[in-house]
Amino acid sequence: MKILLLGASGYVGGALWQSLSARHTVVGTCSRRAVPGLVTVDLRDEAALCALLGQGFDLVIHAAGLVDLASAEAQPALAHALNVRSVEALRTAVRDTPTKILLLSSDNVFDGTGEVYTEEDPRSPVNVYGRTKCAAEDALLGPGGHLVVRIPLVYGRSPWADRFMARFSGPVTQAQTDVVCAPVYLPSLAPALEELWDRQGLLHFAGAEVVTRFALMSRVAEALRLPTRVVPVRNDDVFASPRRPKRLVLRSVHHGFLGPDVAAALADMASGSTEETT
Ligand SMILES: NC(=O)c1ccc[n+]([C@@H]2O[C@H](COP(=O)([O-])OP(=O)(O)OC[C@H]3O[C@@H](n4cnc5c(N)ncnc54)[C@H](OP(=O)(O)O)[C@@H]3O)[C@@H](O)[C@H]2O)c1
Repeated sequence: MKILLLGASGYVGGALWQSLSARHTVVGTCSRRAVPGLVTVDLRDEAALCALLGQGFDLVIHAAGLVDLASAEAQPALAHALNVRSVEALRTAVRDTPTKILLLSSDNVFDGTGEVYTEEDPRSPVNVYGRTKCAAEDALLGPGGHLVVRIPLVYGRSPWADRFMARFSGPVTQAQTDVVCAPVYLPSLAPALEELWDRQGLLHFAGAEVVTRFALMSRVAEALRLPTRVVPVRNDDVFASPRRPKRLVLRSVHHGFLGPDVAAALADMASGSTEETT
């Protein structure tokens, strides 16, 4: 497969790039973070995106954009330009070509009041980030055979933008006891996408185990013997704005793939293995 991976310099994209490059021809992009081997392109430069697409790809994986909830809330126009407009431009650019687009979306399209969310549940975003992801899904789905894969919180190491492990860099790490999800172990994502990318429409992919952020962070710190103290907090006491959905458990009615449970993921991380588990 010849793949264009937008956002290969990011947390999720870096791990996808590393894994998929072993089995496919992957052109990865970066923006502000120059990474050797990646092509620099700004998502807002539609002419540059079109020129890149002119190389001819079987698949475009869109893993770029404004992801941080607070940054999106503070800069809604930028969030729309990166998260929505880029999808509209890509879809137009590949029209009448065989190139398929796979967009990574988020569990933040839901409000977090439901027990479990499948692809059939109505969306109800409560923050700017979630609203841009809804609009991006709408921009891609419909005729064209493209694919949206919604994922929850991702954890695990990433080669050059390790946002998850960076959370443990201080002596104290705050983690919410009232924010729950079925997080995805990052190395399980590339093989899952490879299983799913022949499909079209909307799919969920999540981890097997449902945990609080506090439980996840505590278990990671303990398993890897990290020199940080994970402190329990209530979300609204510490992260009052923007609104964050409290319970986001994604499940699929279309496939049975789940990422590994936390114990298996932590055993993999502790061993330093790069083995992928789905
Ligand atoms: N991380 C999670 O837990 C999580 C959960 C659910 C869904 N997702 C989805 O997964 C995808 C990747 O998220 P992530 O956590 O990997 O985010 P990230 O670490 O913030 O990476 C964002 C990527 O977007 C690129 N980017 C930012 N502004 C750009 C611009 N103007 N032009 C071109 N590229 C630009 C960044 O490039 P530079 O760094 O080089 O500027 C980087 O490669 C997103 O679609 C997100 O919605 C992530």
